[in-house]
Amino acid sequence: MAEWFDIAAESDCPPGSSIERVAGDRMVAVANVDGVYHAIDGLCPHQGGPLGTGTLCGAIITCPWHGWQFDVTSGRHRYSQTVRQQVYQVRCEAGRILVRPRQSPATETGAPPA
Ligand code: FES
Repeated sequence: MAEWFDIAAESDCPPGSSIERVAGDRMVAVANVDGVYHAIDGLCPHQGGPLGTGTLCGAIITCPWHGWQFDVTSGRHRYSQTVRQQVYQVRCEAGRILVRPRQSPATETGAPPA
């Protein structure tokens, strides 16, 4: 069974923001969309950019390096059907954000969008 990792205080990620944290051997991007936390693989599949430090607009996070965009609720690339980040389970407990990085369904990555 996958392990839960305590990665941050809820106050570290207020609504409309995102953070980058390490959970076990994974880099995780956590985003707060209208008070609901979402967690995806934090390494951008383009060239490894830090998605958690990108700009969050609604549920869309934009990689700070070259602008690839992902829906943090699904992990899907905004424009490509073949690029998708892993989605991780996330929950809150006693003011802390916990992430379970290995309990997500298999996802795919593919060629960059045109
Ligand atoms: S590394 Fe993320 S868009 Fe290039």
